[in-house]
Amino acid sequence: MHDTYLRGNHIYLIAILVFATVITLISTFLTYKNSKKAAEDSLNLQALGIAVSLETSLNNSDELRKQKNIFKEIITEGRWEGIAFIALYDKNGTTILHSNENLIGRQVQDRNIKKVSDKGIPSRTYVTLGTDERVFVLDFPVHIRDSERILRLALHTYPVEGIIRQARLHVFGMLFIIAVLWVVGYFFIRASRHSDELRMKMAERERFAVIGEMASVLAHEIRNPLGSIKGFAQYLKEQNTDNRTQGTDSLDIIVSESKRLEDLTEDLLMYAKPMEVKSEDFDVLDLMNEVIKTIQNRKDVGINVSVPAGITIKSDSDKLKQIFMNILQNAVDAESKAIDIKAEVMNDKVAISISDDGCGMSHEIKENAFKPFFTTKTKGTGLGLAIVDKLTKAIGGEIELKSEPQKGTVLKIVIPKNFI
Ligand SMILES: Nc1ncnc2c1ncn2[C@@H]1O[C@H](COP(=O)(O)OP(=O)(O)O)[C@@H](O)[C@H]1O
Ligand SMILES: [Mg+2]
Repeated sequence: MHDTYLRGNHIYLIAILVFATVITLISTFLTYKNSKKAAEDSLNLQALGIAVSLETSLNNSDELRKQKNIFKEIITEGRWEGIAFIALYDKNGTTILHSNENLIGRQVQDRNIKKVSDKGIPSRTYVTLGTDERVFVLDFPVHIRDSERILRLALHTYPVEGIIRQARLHVFGMLFIIAVLWVVGYFFIRASRHSDELRMKMAERERFAVIGEMASVLAHEIRNPLGSIKGFAQYLKEQNTDNRTQGTDSLDIIVSESKRLEDLTEDLLMYAKPMEVKSEDFDVLDLMNEVIKTIQNRKDVGINVSVPAGITIKSDSDKLKQIFMNILQNAVDAESKAIDIKAEVMNDKVAISISDDGCGMSHEIKENAFKPFFTTKTKGTGLGLAIVDKLTKAIGGEIELKSEPQKGTVLKIVIPKNFI
């Protein structure tokens, strides 16, 4: 139940986180895209500028005719920065001039060159060189002395890579911040859930403490007058049995109902009373046999005790008696045919389990069974298991409850062998 529990505040927090995440992701993505575009635009502009001025200088100079490699000169002189290579092709892809002299005259089969010469418009791509460097390549149609040529200009990308690297860093930074926000949010919700649970538990404990106090005052006040009522009713009944006057049935009801109220006040006091724990040696089997006697007198149910003789423990035998009386009473109330009592020693602990084949409990009943005043019985007090819980804790023990509707119930009490 508590695992899926989320407060309204938590849902707001998650909504804000989701909103912030989406907005940040979108803006980061756009910033990254824009930075990349800005980097490409700057390469493109630079390349176009160089290409246009090269076209002019190729037309004006007669260096081409002089068989001088001006492309190589441009690169070695460093007239423009960032050029990887320059080449000039004719329409068929024959290299007319290249900054690398060895490549002049070579025929290249390049779709881009064909496209540029067919359409007459520049094209841009990225190409990976033999040196593994990725370069920006502009293929630009030029007219040199009335013949159509294609000027290829490759630019190093490292000057603009800084921009892209920075944008990428920005993306990682943002992702990191989002992750941190989510982690902080997660721990915040967990801590706040934890403190909510604690607060709820404490409030519940306080409520029970107040109820307990009230109950104990009430029980004290009721006990004495109740004793008188029962006593008088019994006295009147005895007087009347000989005369056989009317009303003895009503007196019976007064006596039995007073008995019930007496049991309730006893339970209330037991539950509310501060615990005093005694400690003495006793045998578990002896104790069980005593408890069974009080139960077996009342109803027809088979109780099978498989407790080895000779398990001696040091604990509060009165409290244990009360614990097992309450558990056995519930098993009998659940219309069980057979009840099994087992005991085993585990190191410094003793586990005593009581299994019945009665009506069993639904999930909801199990959740509430140990709460005071929770009962499904018309004449129940709802205090039996609350007392079991309180007494078991008082003697340092633990309770395990297993129960399935229509199948039965197992209550296991694990207590220290020596409780001092
Ligand atoms: N052995 C059992 N088999 C089935 N239901 C049980 C058993 N023990 C306890 N319960 C359920 O737990 C509830 C609380 O038990 P308890 O605290 O002893 O109060 P009460 O016996 O007065 O109802 C019972 O009303 C019953 O529904
Ligand atoms: Mg009970």
